[in-house]
Amino acid sequence: MDQAAPTRPRRGDQLTLTVDTLAYGGAGVARHEGYVVFVQGGIPGDTVLVEVGKSKRAYAEARVLEVITPSPDRIEPVADHPGAPWQVIPYERQLEIKAEQVDDALRRIGRLDGYTLEPIIPAEQQWRYRNKLEYSFGRDESGRLICGFHAPGRWEDIVEVTDCLLASEAGNRAREEVVQWCRSQSFEPYDRRTNQGFLRNLVVREGRRSGELQVRLVTSPGKLDGEAFAAAVPAADGLLWTRTASLAETTAGGETELLAGVERLEEQLGGLSISISGEAFFQTNTEMAERLYALALEYAELRGYERLYDLYCGIGTIGLLMAPRAAELWGLEIVEDAIADAIANARRNEIDNAHFFAGDVRLALRELVEKAGRPDVLVVDPPRAGLSQKVVRRIIEAAPKRIVYVSCNPTTLAPNAAQLVEAGYQLLKVRPVDMFPQTPHIECVAQLERRSG
Ligand SMILES: C[S@@+](CC[C@H](N)C(=O)[O-])C[C@H]1O[C@@H](n2cnc3c(N)ncnc32)[C@H](O)[C@@H]1O
Repeated sequence: MDQAAPTRPRRGDQLTLTVDTLAYGGAGVARHEGYVVFVQGGIPGDTVLVEVGKSKRAYAEARVLEVITPSPDRIEPVADHPGAPWQVIPYERQLEIKAEQVDDALRRIGRLDGYTLEPIIPAEQQWRYRNKLEYSFGRDESGRLICGFHAPGRWEDIVEVTDCLLASEAGNRAREEVVQWCRSQSFEPYDRRTNQGFLRNLVVREGRRSGELQVRLVTSPGKLDGEAFAAAVPAADGLLWTRTASLAETTAGGETELLAGVERLEEQLGGLSISISGEAFFQTNTEMAERLYALALEYAELRGYERLYDLYCGIGTIGLLMAPRAAELWGLEIVEDAIADAIANARRNEIDNAHFFAGDVRLALRELVEKAGRPDVLVVDPPRAGLSQKVVRRIIEAAPKRIVYVSCNPTTLAPNAAQLVEAGYQLLKVRPVDMFPQTPHIECVAQLERRSG
């Protein structure tokens, strides 16, 4: 028997491993002679044959080639869908894991305790819940134009979708109409490796309550018959065409032209009537965004006299839902179009105590405090990277009595909350909300209060 010291696996090695737990982000965690291997596609209890990708001093990453003995938890997937990697885990178990991961991040990364972890709010719909899908174009083995998602671990390959189970039936029909028309035009898919080809992405956005569909085709510079395109996609209430020469894999930027219908998407949310412009952030699960915002409102505990800040406010939805319960609302957001939407949304909902400003929270928060005065309650809803230490310091200077932190990443919430606790706040409660069934993404809301004295 080989008694040599354990060696770290190298790229391309094939190993048989048993997955113990799930890491934040969704990879399975297994050990190879004590060395940690993150296994994409493995769930706890699986014994799997994997191929090693990246290999570092402390850990390696690997993808599953074959499930040798499935976990007793594993269930049959309903679709070949790269956007739904957790569909092999029963939904109840997904919820438990998400709640555990929030608690674990706060305790281990933030070294926090003494808070109440309230029960996770399950999603209303386990499938077909997304109001926005971004597809990419490619070719199948026979050379036919296809539209779908990048394959996990094989980034240049596209997995075709003909019925995306995260999108509504109407959204699926619109995508199929676009693809058929693109085939009839013999358009080439864009290939990032060569920077050749025309068709880059297709963004389908839906007003779940209004029933409106917005279809935006993203291409390289080139020509397209806008009228024929519009005739081929009759269900689109707004048909947009973005041309970009960018090398980045993004649907943002470029020049956008309205080919038919209306530019903005109309929607109703929590009793508000809102309008959303093309590049403004909008929560992708409308029904659960309502639940999330209702929870943020509960945690804000407004009495009516408060000066309320909504930082990273996007099109203003959280603040506007809270404004009728506060004395005044001040929103801050970096995307100017989103602020224009927020101002328009305040007006159309006859909310007259709301003020919105475009600016970078890092630079503009001090200015806002000078202009508006200190907040009583402050809501933050930052991107996944969370708040920088400097922004947390600015919030501490602003000294709100209560902070409601809406987080899409508990591993960045944890150090931010720890810094606030260090400065005299108390983390009182946290509640996860499942906005993204069948995926490892976690959303939660935390309530912090300044200790008196
Ligand atoms: C998670 S979204 C929240 C949006 C909004 N609260 C909502 O629920 O729709 C984060 C927002 O932060 C904005 N943002 C990102 N970095 C920013 C910064 N440095 N300063 C201000 N806003 C920023 C993004 O444009 C985005 O609208």
